[in-house]
Amino acid sequence: MTDPKKLFVKTYGCQMNVYDSERMAEALGAQGYVTTDVVEEADMVLLNTCHIREKASEKLYSDLGRLRGLKVAKPDLKVGVAGCVAQAEGEEILRRSPVVDLVVGPQAYHRLPEMVAAGGRQIDTDFPAEDKFTQLPARKALRGPAAFLTVQEGCDKFCAFCVVPYTRGTEVSRPVDRLLDEARGLVAQGVREITLLGQNVNAYHGAGSGGSWGLARLLRELAQIEGLERLRYTTSHPNDMEDDLIAAHGDLPQLMPYLHLPVQSGSDRILKAMNRKHSADQYLRLIERIRAARPDILLSSDFIVGFPGETDADFQATLDLIRAVGFGQAFSFKYSARPGTPAAEKPPVAAEIADARLQELQALITSQQRAAQVAMVGREVTVLYEKPGRLPGQMVGKSDHLHAVHVTDPEGRIGQLARVRVLSSSSNSLAAQMVSRLA
Ligand code: SAH
Ligand code: SF4
Ligand code: F3S
Repeated sequence: MTDPKKLFVKTYGCQMNVYDSERMAEALGAQGYVTTDVVEEADMVLLNTCHIREKASEKLYSDLGRLRGLKVAKPDLKVGVAGCVAQAEGEEILRRSPVVDLVVGPQAYHRLPEMVAAGGRQIDTDFPAEDKFTQLPARKALRGPAAFLTVQEGCDKFCAFCVVPYTRGTEVSRPVDRLLDEARGLVAQGVREITLLGQNVNAYHGAGSGGSWGLARLLRELAQIEGLERLRYTTSHPNDMEDDLIAAHGDLPQLMPYLHLPVQSGSDRILKAMNRKHSADQYLRLIERIRAARPDILLSSDFIVGFPGETDADFQATLDLIRAVGFGQAFSFKYSARPGTPAAEKPPVAAEIADARLQELQALITSQQRAAQVAMVGREVTVLYEKPGRLPGQMVGKSDHLHAVHVTDPEGRIGQLARVRVLSSSSNSLAAQMVSRLA
């Protein structure tokens, strides 16, 4: 018997890419590949790329540069580029990088096994009519008790700065039955928490019994699955936060009190230029309604600073919005001009100004994040143990509010839910003592 071939996968970008990487590994697994964490051992290297900012896509070429040596030592090594850079640059990657054998876009990766079997240099960046999810083997590779489940892909919003509508295509929702099957399968394998994924997840409108289902109805149905203790979803757009979804935050115990709701800017002028189609005030009023439904909800967001035309007053409006909301966490980025997007045509803000704004915004967010963590100290929270901690007798997991928690619990096991008392807060996590084990 020959040794199985080894696959090394590197994932850049968002959680959807994490999910796709798992599915690609499973698809190649059916062809005899097993995954490895050691790139030197690999017979195939798959880079699942992100195109969202210039820095993200440049990483591909520096990694390809590093793989050149490996390919010289190992001429049979196959190198594949998947994900959003593959979609955006396609042929260009094959031209620029002789080490690359395969280029496959995010909507075509179910064809990866055929491409590998066919040999030679190949590219597939179609948006095929068939649903890739129906062509892939059933989910099996499990990384623990918390799993992702892609329910919706693509985006029709066309924010002026963003490549996603081009790299992932138009909005498509997966049918309810398939999602319920996939979720039940995950739970049967020990999953207790599922995060529903979509570039615009709250725009979900999948075919279900009696017609089209929204995200709230899907969440309510998933909550019926015995053993599925926690539900989350990401990423949402403010304009798709419908009443029934807000209501679900109030009355669905499995739906965790954490919501990532990107706003990008607090200036109406900039929001308009970004084509976000909501004002800062509309966002604030939405937050009020969400908090009325679930008072302890922790909010998170994304911000872009230095969008073309952003003045100091615009930036101050963003800081005002952050102060008004009080976020538990947030991701912030310096605007990066992306080829093919409308905003890329406009004159940029000077780099030093954008850098200074980013620093100021991040300092404010950090202080809010710390305050949200410190507010947990002394309280009892629920944690799902995901892995052993670095210290003996320690487990690590996430609280309902998505805080990383290190729990002293020598008998704790992965997949267990426990009530724990928070003892202290450090920069990015909480430390706690086990109080009682739940299910
Ligand atoms: N679908 C999600 C997220 C898309 S990408 C949403 O609508 O919120 C994740 C984040 O990257 C965005 O929220 C935005 O803050 C940031 N981003 C997207 N394009 C960018 C660009 N050109 N420059 C800097 N940041 C960008
Ligand atoms: Fe990009 Fe999100 Fe805007 Fe869609 S809604 S274009 S994914 S930032
Ligand atoms: Fe990046 Fe594509 Fe996700 S551009 S953020 S990997 S959808």
